[in-house]
Amino acid sequence: MGKGIGHGKVIIFGEHFVVYGVPAIAAGISNGAIVEVKKSIELSYVSNVHGTIPELTTNAIKLIMAAMKIKENFRVELTGDLPTFGGLGSSAAFCVALTRAFADEYNLSLRDDKINEIAYEGEKAFHGNPSGIDNTMATYGGAMRFIRGKNPQENKFEKIKLGIPLHCVIGITGISSPTAKMVEGVMKYKEEDSDQFQNLCDEAGEIIARGEKALATGDLKLLGELMNENQQLLNALGVSIEQNEAIIESALGAGALGAKVTGGGGGGTCLILAKDQKHATEIIFAIKKIGFDAFYTKIS
Ligand code: MEV
Repeated sequence: MGKGIGHGKVIIFGEHFVVYGVPAIAAGISNGAIVEVKKSIELSYVSNVHGTIPELTTNAIKLIMAAMKIKENFRVELTGDLPTFGGLGSSAAFCVALTRAFADEYNLSLRDDKINEIAYEGEKAFHGNPSGIDNTMATYGGAMRFIRGKNPQENKFEKIKLGIPLHCVIGITGISSPTAKMVEGVMKYKEEDSDQFQNLCDEAGEIIARGEKALATGDLKLLGELMNENQQLLNALGVSIEQNEAIIESALGAGALGAKVTGGGGGGTCLILAKDQKHATEIIFAIKKIGFDAFYTKIS
């Protein structure tokens, strides 16, 4: 039997733009995926995590087994406390946890860069053309600046400094849109209006550079403003739907410093910056009042 874990994440700045080479900033959250593999007569997948898609997950398992040249069959079991609401990197966390579980089963001492590389192969089953940010975050955790390279080996990522802990709320729309579909929609936007798309990418680049400084100095007010600016760009791309907007509006109404879609959007989850933990509870209350769920997470 082998066991492995992968971290969940939030993207603080730069989702979607990261697919086109703009830097993005992401941070690990404490929720994670745990995978256990046991030799079996046939390949099977079981999960007590609500909302996973067995067909896609089985394809990801096959891609990872092929990448690791595994010929035997396994019963793959997913547990853990990382929800599959969209935006929190649950598919990548699964792929990383599975790769680590196989490495554990076969006593392979794989370095994290190898785990990351193999997990990326599995991510393709879920995302089509993933930037690699989700599997990188799922492998390493922490807070990072990520830049997509021409191929996964050329991706650049670096741990970044957080001046103070961030008290955040994750707002859950309850609508799940496949990331692949959202990425495809953005690609269409780019094809239809490449000049405007380039302008948005340039603006995103500036927000992210300023955002990294605000994170390092712990300037929460500026950080929140930049998250709001980032949200306007995501809105322009069409990835923020009515339910995202409703959550964001109620969070800002409750005094949130900033709020934006996190991850692929089209529903999924929103990342909301609170002043402190008590304020986060007030924001959660405001979001619940309009009929959505939310939870607290601390990024430190
Ligand atoms: C998904 O968490 C982030 C996206 O930018 C897709 C990707 O980077 O692969 C939407």
